[in-house]
Amino acid sequence: MDVIPFNRPYTTAHATSAMTDAAERGHLSGDGHYTKLANSLLRALTGSHRVLLTTSCTHALEMSAMLLGVGPGDEVIMPSFTFVSTANAFALRGATPVFVDIRPDTFNIDERLIEAAITERTRAIVVVHYAGVGCEMDEITDIAARHGLQVVEDNAHGFGGTYRGRNLGTIAPLATLSFHETKNIQCGEGGALLVNDESLFEDAEILREKGTNRSRFFRGQVDKYTWVSLGSSYLPSDLLAAYLVTQLEEFDEIQKRRMLVWQRYRSDLSSWAASAGFSLQHCPDDRNHPAHLFALIAPDLASRQALIAHLGDHAIKAVFHYVPLHSSPVGRTFGERHLPVTDDISDRLVRLPLFPTLDERQLDRIVSAVTSFG
Ligand SMILES: Cc1ncc(COP(=O)(O)O)c(C=O)c1O
Repeated sequence: MDVIPFNRPYTTAHATSAMTDAAERGHLSGDGHYTKLANSLLRALTGSHRVLLTTSCTHALEMSAMLLGVGPGDEVIMPSFTFVSTANAFALRGATPVFVDIRPDTFNIDERLIEAAITERTRAIVVVHYAGVGCEMDEITDIAARHGLQVVEDNAHGFGGTYRGRNLGTIAPLATLSFHETKNIQCGEGGALLVNDESLFEDAEILREKGTNRSRFFRGQVDKYTWVSLGSSYLPSDLLAAYLVTQLEEFDEIQKRRMLVWQRYRSDLSSWAASAGFSLQHCPDDRNHPAHLFALIAPDLASRQALIAHLGDHAIKAVFHYVPLHSSPVGRTFGERHLPVTDDISDRLVRLPLFPTLDERQLDRIVSAVTSFG
């Protein structure tokens, strides 16, 4: 029996010819022909006016921390149920991540708990749209405005998702995307910073270009480029941008195929889940998710592990997800937090294979293996 992997990165038919073309153009560093194409496709797809391609979402988050001027003594509120990069980006600047629990229905930061975590040191709130299900952005934006805080959307999962008619990644002043091979749209390793607050754009360009005003030089706005602030190198090679462009051109097709898989799981597993004591992540009616992942919540840790093992016996790779940050060796150095929902969901969550080329035969196999459990 062939193994069904958890993820199989989708590669378009044109990916390699686009990369060959990028190589033949002779501009292999960042910000070449394909980076510009990728930026304009991203602008059109996200609706964000200012897009900077980066080497990863991790780096786009690090840029966000620097752009907001977060530093030692500052606190940044975020979920613990997230990837390490969300916290690392701010901790690397010397700030303290303050972990807040998640909602039991959407698995997103619980907006009702944010105000209690705000102190006179709080500078920002970082939200993560888990599985591309939007956070309670109206409430969070209100809280931030009342307390004079910045908001960053870690939108690693949510490219293509919407919240009350707005695209995820366009609501906060800064938002990040991931093009890691596990994401809907991918180029192996890559990301983007969406700069929705125009006043941050020039600083963002400089930061990404090693602290120089090189982009202004290339636009003919200055006659030489100069070291003008601290910065680093966050530009991906144009080779990777070429690969990414072919994915962005097939955005609708990729999303459609993922959604078909997601809907098949939902329609074929919902009644089994209810009878077996499992539940699904909730996506409120006022938002759309981009079918980034399909999660089942087991009744307890033992049954989650048993389901993963059962699927393994059927040559199907299912996986759990984030290990809470607040109780990790590094997380604990920022103080003790009691986050029961995070601990609980992290223990019980299992993700099923989800990629655009999963075929009917494989889906039949997965559905019948899951429904034969328990
Ligand atoms: C919520 C979240 N943020 C950030 C990242 C980091 O993305 P990248 O691998 O592009 O740096 C991930 C990676 O999976 C993630 O899940």
